[in-house]
Amino acid sequence: MKGTQRKSGPASQPPALKQDGLHVAIIMDGNGRWATARGLPRVAGHQAGAEAVRRTIEAAPKLGIRTLTLYAFSSDNWHRPPDEVATLMKLFHEYLERHTAECVKHGIRLTVIGRRDRLDPKLRRAIERAEAATAAGDRLHLRIAVDYSARDAIVRAACRVNGRPVGRAEFARLLGEAIHGREPVPDVDLLIRTGGEQRLSDFLLWECAYAELYFTNRMWPDFGAQDLEAAVRDFHRRERRFGRVLASAG
Ligand code: IPE
Ligand code: IPE
Ligand code: MG
Repeated sequence: MKGTQRKSGPASQPPALKQDGLHVAIIMDGNGRWATARGLPRVAGHQAGAEAVRRTIEAAPKLGIRTLTLYAFSSDNWHRPPDEVATLMKLFHEYLERHTAECVKHGIRLTVIGRRDRLDPKLRRAIERAEAATAAGDRLHLRIAVDYSARDAIVRAACRVNGRPVGRAEFARLLGEAIHGREPVPDVDLLIRTGGEQRLSDFLLWECAYAELYFTNRMWPDFGAQDLEAAVRDFHRRERRFGRVLASAG
């Protein structure tokens, strides 16, 4: 992916959107606080968050996003109260059952990254069905991270290296296998975190080596197409250097 130049035109002329396939990753945070602020149980925030997922997926391809990785459940989230964990798993299962047909219709290929061995077997089968049904989708690759820990994945890939000298591409391939990634995907271009916190929380640590970071105070259930567009436009105003000095530099 080529670096983007900082645009200096007037604010009324936003930069053209890049169309060659961004990888955007989102830490969908703030569901609990959104609900608490409304006097609702935290699970109501997760329910509202599922709607924001739908809006985001619909908006993504129009913004030049070709790979979208959503952080739905971290390996550390198992430490939450059992009721909340059960609700999150149920919502994810329902999402797969309800939206697979829609994904097929809209050319969305859905894959799930993370560990599978700790998921309920019924959920595992639903994941496999959704992945098989949407395999031909070529408009957007939607990756949902469930029971995902970047550090665990890196450790598993490192164990597979077993002392052999390997290059970055080979390591990335092993890392992909460690998270059930079917094939290598491009590094993350833009990482968005909603909910106001400014941390990575063990998400895509390797893949975000040169990601542009975008933090917003918007709580995830309030996130919509306009927020995604604002983040992508901000990304296009940034100058990515990848450690180099640009030819245009004086
Ligand atoms: C993100 O929202 C959803 C998951 C982590 C599953 P949170 O549940 O973390 O919401 P806050 O951060 O407590 O508001
Ligand atoms: C990160 O959010 C995980 C997901 C959004 C799925 P958390 O709310 O679990 O992260 P911390 O605890 O604030 O770092
Ligand atoms: Mg949180």
